[in-house]
Amino acid sequence: MQTQKTTTDPLRIAVIGGDGTGPEVVAEGLKILETVAARDGFAYELAEFDFGGDRYLRTGEVLPEGAVEELKQFDAIYLGAVGHPDVAPGILEKGLLLELRFQLDQYINLRPVKLLPGVETPLAGKGPEDIDFVVVRENTEDLYCGVGGFLKKGTADEVASQTALYSRKGCERCIRWAFEYTQRRNNPRGKMLTLVAKTNVLTYGHDLWWRTFQDVAAEYPDVKADYNHVDACCMWMVKNPEYYDVIVTTNMFGDIITDLGGMLQGGMGVAAGGNINPETGGTSMYEPMGGSAPKYTGQGVINPIAAINAMAMLLDQAGYSQSAGSIDRAVARVTGEKMQSQSAGKMGYSTSEVGDLVIAALG
Ligand code: IPM
Ligand code: MN
Repeated sequence: MQTQKTTTDPLRIAVIGGDGTGPEVVAEGLKILETVAARDGFAYELAEFDFGGDRYLRTGEVLPEGAVEELKQFDAIYLGAVGHPDVAPGILEKGLLLELRFQLDQYINLRPVKLLPGVETPLAGKGPEDIDFVVVRENTEDLYCGVGGFLKKGTADEVASQTALYSRKGCERCIRWAFEYTQRRNNPRGKMLTLVAKTNVLTYGHDLWWRTFQDVAAEYPDVKADYNHVDACCMWMVKNPEYYDVIVTTNMFGDIITDLGGMLQGGMGVAAGGNINPETGGTSMYEPMGGSAPKYTGQGVINPIAAINAMAMLLDQAGYSQSAGSIDRAVARVTGEKMQSQSAGKMGYSTSEVGDLVIAALG
């Protein structure tokens, strides 16, 4: 059942267009928001933040003092893209994206893999009914916690270490959220949560995940608790994507398999993600999964569907599920009946024309 929040409090959204094509796709998502808010009668407020590569090159700082505290005051963050060709790899990724995920404790990274009508998947013969699963990626631990160092750096004897950390609390809260999500999703094919890990090699960290998964599974007898090694999962995602309902996995593996999932659903032009802090008062952040695509910046050729899908996720999680559902249906009509391709420059329409088509389909 799609519910809709009824309140006079405006939905307060911080907008970070970010780098490259980020601002262009975010502009389309905001057009959709304006349309559904007017139609469905809810109020919202936007505040723009200029964080990203250009600001960093100008000022030397990625996130200014107090920025995180300010962002915490919002109901949600709508993010375009992070990554600038003139900034060394890691600076913006760690200083902006990962910093916000960690500081705002967005411990769930929710990434649906869903083939839309009319969208070409490399899996010939598979259709929208076969490719429709969701990856719940733990978003605060693992190799991403930045623990490690160099010994004898720059010498022939150099040693580097990069340590994965997993906590009981960290994996338990993610696994529990994934069971709850699987229950709510209520897949008519049967409710199944697959843990994806590598217990045969990572015999400490993933043993903790495995034991925690078994413990939490006991509380959800109506959800089938399933397990795949990550390498086998990659194989099954391509061979039998219809096997999956919801996957829960570690941060690093989740990063990798959701790019694979992004391709199954037609590419980065359509793949969206939510960085979710599910706690009361938590601030979540929604983004198209593709990067900043610097070479397409300013040309009006980038696909805004992923950013529009990210706006639908934002509204869904903020309590406006009816509005979100109507966006999903409008997007499906546009991909199914209008767009020629989901690749940048091949859509048959410009970026803003695709946004306009979704607005027209909203009716
Ligand atoms: C993603 C991205 C990020 C990640 C990078 C930009 C740090 O690849 O959101 O999947 O690895 O999480
Ligand atoms: Mn990634």
